Amino acid sequence: MSEHESRSPKASGAAAESPPNRRSALGWLSVALGALATTAAGVPVVGYLLSPILRTPGDRWVDLGPVEEYPEKQTRLVDFVDPLHRPWDGQSERLAAYVRHDEGEKFQVFMVNCTHLGCPVSWFPQSGLFLCPCHGGVYYQDGQRASGPPPRGLYSYDSRVVDGRLQIRAGRLPTLQQPG
Ligand code: FES
Repeated sequence: MSEHESRSPKASGAAAESPPNRRSALGWLSVALGALATTAAGVPVVGYLLSPILRTPGDRWVDLGPVEEYPEKQTRLVDFVDPLHRPWDGQSERLAAYVRHDEGEKFQVFMVNCTHLGCPVSWFPQSGLFLCPCHGGVYYQDGQRASGPPPRGLYSYDSRVVDGRLQIRAGRLPTLQQPG
């Protein structure tokens, strides 16, 4: 038997073993990729389910500055950072509100979004009205609905004055089912 002939069975044996090894490696790879994909898909779902627990009520009061910055009987537009913002929120972490200072420590703080379909309303001090540019919704200066398609007045934030500074509870966005 020649040298070539004696090696031939070993070489063919090694070739016969490699397909199971490749299948095994591919099997593990597909299991690992499947686990990775499941984890990646599950993180947002778990975060959403745990968010009511992770978002503690104590972190929802937002400081809007000293009371002196808000003249009585006037309405001013302010912006602030959503206390429940996430690192990936970008510019959407900034929210806006209309602050109306009635007198003393009495304030009304309105969301800027129309209660019809959510367009931002504008304040017109000359007429004392909030107007929605989308479908003509109108609100009085106290936030009550005046006319147009909005089903109710503007949503408002809870507010309080602490040590001469205005604060609002801004962590929760009201809805028709759970108005502010
Ligand atoms: S969104 Fe304001 S009236 Fe429709």
